[in-house]
Amino acid sequence: MTTIATKRVLVSRIFPGEGVERLRSAGFTVTAWDQDRPMTQDELIEQSKQHDALFCTLSDKIDKRFLTECQNLDIVSQFAVGYDNIDVAEATRLGIPIGYTPDAMSAATADIAFGLMIATSRKMFYMHKQILEGKWNYFRPHANLGMELTGKTLGIMGLGRIGMEMAKRCKGAYNMDIIYHNRTRNQRAERDFDAKYVEFAELLRQSDVISVHCALTPETRELFNSAAFSQMKPTAIFINTSRGMVHNEHDLIEALNSGTIWGAGLDVTNPEPMQPNNPLLQMENVTVLPHIGSATMEARGKMAQMAAENIIEFYRNNRVPHIVNPEVMK
Ligand code: DGY
Repeated sequence: MTTIATKRVLVSRIFPGEGVERLRSAGFTVTAWDQDRPMTQDELIEQSKQHDALFCTLSDKIDKRFLTECQNLDIVSQFAVGYDNIDVAEATRLGIPIGYTPDAMSAATADIAFGLMIATSRKMFYMHKQILEGKWNYFRPHANLGMELTGKTLGIMGLGRIGMEMAKRCKGAYNMDIIYHNRTRNQRAERDFDAKYVEFAELLRQSDVISVHCALTPETRELFNSAAFSQMKPTAIFINTSRGMVHNEHDLIEALNSGTIWGAGLDVTNPEPMQPNNPLLQMENVTVLPHIGSATMEARGKMAQMAAENIIEFYRNNRVPHIVNPEVMK
């Protein structure tokens, strides 16, 4: 059994909840970065070299360079469900387990996707700005028309835990027909929500709203590009709460400007952060949020606990409860 008291954990950001405290109570020596900005990669490497475990998040670049220089690390525990910032293949090759925090934020993220869908369909953010600009003059029967969602078709790209929560909301509130495209069939969604599996081209063709919940992988990188948008309905709304790099932003702007699709709701952008002069921020049928899908006290608190638990369990019982690369534990 490992002596936890000799183990040093680097915590790369300021995290909410009791996760970091848990590490301290378990007996680890914890160094917590206390500035409200990500460490530069040089700072992260420098510090990680002096620690045994790293508690990090999606703004930390755990790439080949990092892993090559920080082979001393016993474990990397990521505070996020997505881990596209980590070179998992290289970590696996080096035998470093990668912990993550699935499901903690499913409901919170689905709330944001659902909210973006409604806000976009009724141009809410744009209308709010009109008031701020002194443009609310009188009631105009013909103007500001959005669209209703009842009975429309929701297409889910990537029907996992967050997609299921989105399906539940859309079925319950608007009795939407659910279609989905995924690597594998989701039997529970087919049973509970009468969801229908379709090929990607069909998803594009049939959906009134497309909501993206897939991981960013080489296959999904910029999957939503001009070729994809051109197959969607001119009345369609595109929602992305997964990773901005799943869509091509230039092509999205083009598709909205040309009326190829009707609207978009984004909690993630490509690149991030979005600059204030981005044309998407001026568009009537576009709603943008700054990557806050998991930003509730409940979700972030749970994520911090899970990320801490992954480290504690690794040293106590040689297991990582939520692991991306289980093959390294064999
Ligand atoms: C995740 O968990 O991957 C989100 O994007 C941030 O919470």
